[in-house]
Amino acid sequence: MSAFKDGLLNGKVAFVAGGTSGINLGIATRMAELGAKVAVAGRDPEKAQRAAAGIGRGAVGYSTDVRDYAATRAVMEQIVNAWGPMDIVVSGAAGNFLSPAAGLSANGFKTVVDIDLLGTFNVFRGCYDLIQKPGASLIAITAGQAVNPMMMQIHACAAKAGINQVIRVMAMEWGPEGVRVNGISPGPIAGTEGMARLAPNPEVTKALTGRIPLRRFGEISEIAESAVFLCSESAAYITGTILDCEGGSQLGDARSPFERS
Ligand code: HXC
Ligand code: NAP
Repeated sequence: MSAFKDGLLNGKVAFVAGGTSGINLGIATRMAELGAKVAVAGRDPEKAQRAAAGIGRGAVGYSTDVRDYAATRAVMEQIVNAWGPMDIVVSGAAGNFLSPAAGLSANGFKTVVDIDLLGTFNVFRGCYDLIQKPGASLIAITAGQAVNPMMMQIHACAAKAGINQVIRVMAMEWGPEGVRVNGISPGPIAGTEGMARLAPNPEVTKALTGRIPLRRFGEISEIAESAVFLCSESAAYITGTILDCEGGSQLGDARSPFERS
């Protein structure tokens, strides 16, 4: 159920880095439904083409690795050459796997930090002179691990914590130019690669669900609605914030003492 009216994003140009699957593809699809011209990018060119075809409405798919500044900048230049300055930029590419710190190589740690954190810097820094000023809205996809430590997630915790600070610093520096920079922190979202990796069997899913105040995983469409809100006029005075869309997960373990035994 959406509160947003058809045509809300008419005339807007949106780029979703990491928008070729999962949550980010849901965001890209919803923005296109609401009238935006949408470009998505991921490493796999065929997956990017499939994603764009699935979105329809003239969406375009590009291939880039967000760890590569020049390649990612080149994609954004192509978008702007075709459609004009970008109004919406979403940085959502991420890598993740479960690993205890003691079993993680330096390159394993670096890989996740590079995709998530350096990738977000590259996307946001790279778009600086390619966005609509004033008026552009930048959104990074972060996670609860940025705030709450989680075992077997040292790489993602560090990367997402860094993203939260990138959001805040860029919001301060670019606010005077009329650019808003915000984050969305999804809770566990059903049917995603992320949850396939972090909740790899029904027992873990059941245990996790039982601790969430709203007692369910979120839907991709619910994160998409949050993204649309943040880049809409309704959020015109919101910058530097992290919007938790997570069913109350970060409040803590929502089982009574009797349920925990
Ligand atoms: C330990 C691992 C590992 C694992 C890879 N590595 N998988 N270490 N356990 N399961 C190590 C490798 O051994 C290697 O270190 C280093 O990481 C780089 O591995 P590559 O395979 O060369 O990396 P690359 O090809 O760049 O692939 C990146 C990836 C991969 C992150 C490893 O899984 C990927 O492409 N993921 C993208 C999709 C994804 O993860 N989606 C979920 C995002 S959702 P050595 O030392 O051997 O060289 C998400 C969940 C949100 O983020 C929840 C909150 C955060
Ligand atoms: P997903 O389906 O695996 O999406 C990841 C996307 O990023 C894909 O389009 C992938 O395409 C792209 N990508 C990965 N590495 C890349 C790189 N180096 N360069 C460019 N693109 C890259 O994951 P998801 O589960 O939907 O998660 C999406 C976002 O939500 C992530 O930021 C994640 O941390 C966050 N999040 C998810 C959950 C959850 O429950 N799933 C919870 C909290 C936060 P290619 O593989 O083709 O590159």
